[in-house]
Amino acid sequence: RLLILDFGSQYTQLIARRIREVGVYCEIRAWDMSEQEIRDFNPKGIILAGSPESVTEQNSPRAPEVVYELGLPVLGICYGMQTMAAQMGGQVEGSEHREFGYAQITVNSENPLLHDIKDHVDHDGNALLDVWMSHGDKVISVPEGFEIFASTDSCPVAGMVHREKQFFGVQFHPEVTHTKQGKRIFEHFVLEICGCDPLWTPANIVDDAIARVKKQVGDDQVLLGLSGGVDSSVVAALLHRAIGDQLTCVFVDNGLLRKNEGDQVMDMFAKNMGVKVIRSDSEELFLSRLKGVEDPEQKRKIIGNTFIEVFDEEAAKLSNVKWLAQGTIYPDVIESAAAKTGKAHVIKSHHNVGGLPDDMALELVEPLRELFKDEVRAIGLELGLPHEMVFRHPFPGPGLGVRILGEVKKEYANILREADAIFIEELRNFGWYDKTSQAFAVFVPVKSVGVVGDGRRYAWVIAIRAVETVDFMTARWAHLPYELLEKVSSRIINEIEDVSRVTYDISSKPPATIEWE
Ligand code: XMP
Repeated sequence: RLLILDFGSQYTQLIARRIREVGVYCEIRAWDMSEQEIRDFNPKGIILAGSPESVTEQNSPRAPEVVYELGLPVLGICYGMQTMAAQMGGQVEGSEHREFGYAQITVNSENPLLHDIKDHVDHDGNALLDVWMSHGDKVISVPEGFEIFASTDSCPVAGMVHREKQFFGVQFHPEVTHTKQGKRIFEHFVLEICGCDPLWTPANIVDDAIARVKKQVGDDQVLLGLSGGVDSSVVAALLHRAIGDQLTCVFVDNGLLRKNEGDQVMDMFAKNMGVKVIRSDSEELFLSRLKGVEDPEQKRKIIGNTFIEVFDEEAAKLSNVKWLAQGTIYPDVIESAAAKTGKAHVIKSHHNVGGLPDDMALELVEPLRELFKDEVRAIGLELGLPHEMVFRHPFPGPGLGVRILGEVKKEYANILREADAIFIEELRNFGWYDKTSQAFAVFVPVKSVGVVGDGRRYAWVIAIRAVETVDFMTARWAHLPYELLEKVSSRIINEIEDVSRVTYDISSKPPATIEWE
């Protein structure tokens, strides 16, 4: 396995994903990891990642010295290369001017990292590589024993190597897809230079997770809040395979789910897979609590608190439960660790189950804690979950509660469910479902006049929304084809009597958010 030392760059997660794609397990740790922790981690190689800081500043972070003393291959990327250069006696120059974007670098020698990798060849027969740059500072002289293997006009040291020690540095970012040969560069480093075997495959991840869960929980009973979302579904399938009947799931139907969602979850898990699932039909309770409430934040709080109350009540009926399973995934772990230490540059809040009664004193089992979303999906498929479920768009915890603007009523929820189902069905028919990151309908409690057939119709407005995004922090509205929009609009108005008008939301995030509330 590999160790990635993080200096606070937003690209660090991408490095980890690229390495795992190569089939090798790696973990991200903060740069101030102790010497003993690094030795105990026992990596086969170390990557020093990027940072928004400057090596030329007095108190900016440095890699622990032990990194250079273990006799392991080390790859410094961007800031990682700069700190390596500075720590080993080279020189780094600060700059106000940032180089950001595409660059073509000349690769001038045979070296194990870039061996046989090139995008073009210039007139003089030099290999050229198309890469992505994002830096201000640059290395201007390399430490003793290092040679330069890549450069550009504006960046004299775009790559450096100490052959004997197997230390490499690159100023560009091999982890972003704009660097076309990035994957091959990582393959060289991880497989050939560090000598790792590509054993991190879905089947192995499943076997490994099952063995660990069995060891962790023994013969104890485990409880899981199943929502039907990807993460909790994969946890359910995994735990069921690991510990069978020791797992009990609680599925809270709050009446704010998508069309047929509750039945689908029960069919899939309880009926087909034989998982023990307790379904709590709590629509009336949720709707009664939401009666008369219009404020979005208050609605969220009510839905969240009612969920915890119902979940706790169901859980309290079970005896002997010792463990609470959660679908926490690796980005959550990295982000909350970063948030705690104040090292975060991106902070997101999580929506996991909390607030179980104190006397239950459950311990946590989180079998997806080390996995990225794409790995969670891959093991979902490995465990036999259907493609449709594994690649389903995310759905917010408060469900349709934040997609019915203002007061939530059963009548509105029913209309919205139908409209949403039509939209998603057509999105799939037109081959656009997988091209969008999230798509849904919104109930707008405004009445509008229309003519349908010979009659006048004075009815509700439905807005449809589809976005493309990588991280859900920013998003672009999807440029859906007009034919698709036309089909959705005419079907919604023709098939749902209480709707007279459909609009398409063309707001991006920011400034709008993805959900309407
Ligand atoms: P926004 O609307 O903030 O949404 O741009 C970003 C992503 O988060 C989801 N979302 C939520 N998920 N509980 C959740 O579990 C919530 O309260 C919540 N609010 C928004 C939203 O669906 C989108 O994927």
